[in-house]
Amino acid sequence: MIRKLFFMWLVLSAIFTLESLAVSPIVLDVNLDKEIAVIQPDMYGVFFEDINFGADGGLYAELIKNRSFDFPHPLVGWVPFGDVRVMSEDPCFDKNPNYVRLELKKGSLTGSGLDNEGFTGIGFQKGTDYRLVFYARVINGEDAKMRFECVTSRSENPDVVEVELNGSTWKKYSVIITPTFTDANSRLRLRLISDGTTVDVEHVSLFPVDTWQGRENGMRRDLAQALFDLNPGVFRFPGGCIVEGTILETRYQWKNSVGPVENRPININRWNYTFRHKFFPDYFQSYGLGFYEYFLLSEDLGAEPLPVISCGIACQYETGELVEIGDLQPYIDDALDLIEFANGSPSSTWGKVRAEMGHPEPFNLKYIGIGNEQWGEVYPERLELFVKAIREKYPKMLIVGSSGPSAEGTNFEYLWPEMKRINVDLVDEHYYKPPAWFLANAGRYDNYDRKGPKVFAGEYAAHDGSRGNANNFNAALSEAAFMTGLERNADIVHLATYAPLFAHINAHQWGPDLIWFDNLNVLRTPSYYVQKLYGHNSGTHVIQITSENSDLKGENNLYATAALDKDNSEIVIKVVNTGSERENIQINLNGRKWKFAGRPEITTLQSDDLYAVNEIGKERVSPVTGWTAMEDGNLHLPINKYSFSIVRIKYSK
Ligand code: AHR
Repeated sequence: MIRKLFFMWLVLSAIFTLESLAVSPIVLDVNLDKEIAVIQPDMYGVFFEDINFGADGGLYAELIKNRSFDFPHPLVGWVPFGDVRVMSEDPCFDKNPNYVRLELKKGSLTGSGLDNEGFTGIGFQKGTDYRLVFYARVINGEDAKMRFECVTSRSENPDVVEVELNGSTWKKYSVIITPTFTDANSRLRLRLISDGTTVDVEHVSLFPVDTWQGRENGMRRDLAQALFDLNPGVFRFPGGCIVEGTILETRYQWKNSVGPVENRPININRWNYTFRHKFFPDYFQSYGLGFYEYFLLSEDLGAEPLPVISCGIACQYETGELVEIGDLQPYIDDALDLIEFANGSPSSTWGKVRAEMGHPEPFNLKYIGIGNEQWGEVYPERLELFVKAIREKYPKMLIVGSSGPSAEGTNFEYLWPEMKRINVDLVDEHYYKPPAWFLANAGRYDNYDRKGPKVFAGEYAAHDGSRGNANNFNAALSEAAFMTGLERNADIVHLATYAPLFAHINAHQWGPDLIWFDNLNVLRTPSYYVQKLYGHNSGTHVIQITSENSDLKGENNLYATAALDKDNSEIVIKVVNTGSERENIQINLNGRKWKFAGRPEITTLQSDDLYAVNEIGKERVSPVTGWTAMEDGNLHLPINKYSFSIVRIKYSK
């Protein structure tokens, strides 16, 4: 019986082997001599908006919410105790006039002070130094003493520092606190401890000393590092809808976001109230992460800055409030002054502001966006005036116009010809669509007009619809497939940025998002890895890759693109398999006089589970790098089901 079973097994395995040998591989032909397009070095980048507590409470490393007591309700974020009053007479900072007055009567048992709750808590790391900065003056008494406590989520306060205050004029104080515990949900307590004294306190700020690049008004190290790791080519800021404002008054006004950080007036964040089922009444923009910091961050990341400013139309989903054409000049001046702020000499009005902030060298701005998701005639009417003024003064500046909020439809079809007429350099397109749309649109740009403006895919993400638009592998894979179409059309698609970028796990309005975080940890999604792989493997020139003489945009569930990386003498081939079968692929490298060196490197992002998501401490989907071999100058690759693979082959000519 056993012999019989063994014999049957032998026969069956022989049949299987013969069958698999009989299935001929799918042949992909790469034409090394056929360069199709130059890939912009800054093509793949990031889009930043203060949504989901992405700036205040996120990338911007400030740990205190409402540090200047200037929210419309001045004690939001603070729990006062004892004798605490909000004042604004004779302020320390005229644009942020509120401060608190603490009085401690002799014999008081409770003391006088306030706790700050941070952004869903303050994340303290054991043994890490935090710099506490505040301004104070002594109103009553020779001198006074303040005490600062790191309070755990269990209301214990093991770590305390005391600061002597003196003088009746405003003074800046700075002290280092080093907690002896780790807790994502801590608080900071400040209290007056000198009996019979009264003090005024303003701008209470707490940062980890170890910020990205060690800057005092800096970025959270882990989150900035996650951005840096993407190798972004372009950095679009500050949004998004917050550029426009619900009403014009609450639009992002960049001039309010520069100069001394203590004196930047706060602005409501429109994501405070946008979604009725996700109400965040404590969401305001401190502008601590302002335009100077955005430019600096772009520089640190090695990315081209791309600021977007209001075109004089408030969000058309909300009020659509308009600036009359005759009143548009201050808005146009904002654009011109911004270019001067970024690039002007330190002797110019706005170049001087930049220089005084610590950057006398220009930021070499080359792009500017005018308007976010605008539509209707009101937009081109206004945009035209900006374009005329910018072209006159800064003819080399590349101007980005908008094609509205959708990837198709009446607004889109009206705006594209208008953008051509106005002659903007790039048109910003936005699409938040299901994965199937991304797969079906891998050829979207194949037939775009090559003579008009270039495309900036300025906001896109696959919305899977499952589990609150989870950042699952299905979404990421469809983005990877779609992006082969962006790359194949790199002659027309010049820039592409996924959106939104950041989301606080405990306080978010919009999903999916590229990078999630809590007060202590960062979480890279599968989509993050797709962006990272494109960011590091873009190549310099698109070359032809076909199967049976056709581009690969979904046939056999395969999507592919190929490029030369002339800077590193490498061929870069990207293949996405969205099918549920493993495919054997043969890649023929055709061309005259090419020699290949070493073993090709292959990096793969793969999961058998399309619905896999990454979690903090549980990274289920991340790229794996290995090596493959070449046979007779060609590649034989088993391409796993549900996978995105990148092969890099060294060449010499
Ligand atoms: O990315 C989130 C929002 O989506 C942006 O603020 C806006 O431009 C778009 O509607």
